Amino acid sequence: MRSPILDYLDSIIATTEHVDSGSTADYIPELAAADPTRAAIALCTSNGTVYASGDADHEFSIQSMSKPFAYALAIEDHGLEYVLDRIGVEPSGDAFNELSLDPETGKPRNPMINAGAITTHSLINSEGEKTAVDRMLEYFGDLADRPIRVDEAVANSELATAHRNLGLAYLLHGSGALPADPTESVTGYIRQCAASVTVSDLALMAATLANGGVQPKTGKQLLCRRTNRHLLSVMASCGMYDAAGNWLTTVGIPAKSGVAGGIIGVLPGQIGVAVFSPRLDAHGNSARGVAMMELLSEDMGLHLMEATRPSRSSLRETQLVSLVDGTEATIYVLQGDLVLSSIESLVQEIVTHPPRTDLVVFDMSRVDEVMPVAERTSSETAAKLIEEGYRIIVVDPEGTVENFADSHGRTIERWTPEQLSDAVR
Ligand code: DON
Repeated sequence: MRSPILDYLDSIIATTEHVDSGSTADYIPELAAADPTRAAIALCTSNGTVYASGDADHEFSIQSMSKPFAYALAIEDHGLEYVLDRIGVEPSGDAFNELSLDPETGKPRNPMINAGAITTHSLINSEGEKTAVDRMLEYFGDLADRPIRVDEAVANSELATAHRNLGLAYLLHGSGALPADPTESVTGYIRQCAASVTVSDLALMAATLANGGVQPKTGKQLLCRRTNRHLLSVMASCGMYDAAGNWLTTVGIPAKSGVAGGIIGVLPGQIGVAVFSPRLDAHGNSARGVAMMELLSEDMGLHLMEATRPSRSSLRETQLVSLVDGTEATIYVLQGDLVLSSIESLVQEIVTHPPRTDLVVFDMSRVDEVMPVAERTSSETAAKLIEEGYRIIVVDPEGTVENFADSHGRTIERWTPEQLSDAVR
């Protein structure tokens, strides 16, 4: 049976066929000559399954979609503070190739516009024989789970007409914002942009960001969670240049476009998406790509700001039982993800109706994940209960709170589900 998800992706390609506005990038001859009728879409879930439709095997250059990944590598090399000292995180509201500098600090406004991305590239360390470009390609390869190479025709074509980027780099150098050699920085940056990818590669790369930095197929942690969160925030506010506000309100997912016609989108915790169509709108974003993403977001309810139903209570039920040894016990059966809003109802129950037995059991067999805020709240609740003379036992077969202790560091007694059922029987 063909997956209905593939049928749906086919329908997005078909529904947007009439969108023929805009034109291919005119300032890079090799991109200007691209076939404007090509279109592709791919989606990758957080378990690494890729669904693709249209010209899914067609390779095109990654262009500005390389910028978030280069920024991630620079942060992994130097730490966030070092990079923030050199490149801002404010949307510029200008076109991607403007010299948008913060008037107070003289830093490029953000790493998604060319000025910030050229500076970002210059921050990527070389390692022995490996240049910054070699490291970038290796990183793309890890993200896409296949070797990625530079399209030399695209790189040479852009290098031959890179007057504007060279101009930006020399101005940055002159103002002290780019400490490296301007020509070398632009050459490296352009080769980074000329890496050749398909929508399926891009969907996997985006899915890694959706997955907190863990590549969903290989399980490799390719960027740390903190960097990942920072990166997605910058993509949400600056990824679509001077159309970023319109994008965030309509499509509502962190994204990055490239001048060859690609767009990647990341829905944290769910999916990575990539679309491709070479004609660009006035902002340098793929016109049909934007239409495809709008449709996808609307149909699949992907908008990040959509208020989903409030998380259900962590407390499934409260049982008052007599154990085989005659002891009375209160069992709180917990469920789902423990986050602040769901754990609050458990705490509220304990505060308003304190347990009437000395023995209190928290059965976490049905708990999926415990957020740090819920663990902290539980530790504090446990400490208060112990101080009031209760004996507490945790049943946690999945090890969701492996070393659970109360907020004074006292280890909490643990039972297996079998010990609990033997005691109750
Ligand atoms: O530097 C440039 O102009 C290109 N290598 C990349 C620009 C780009 O992809 C803008 N995005 N839509």
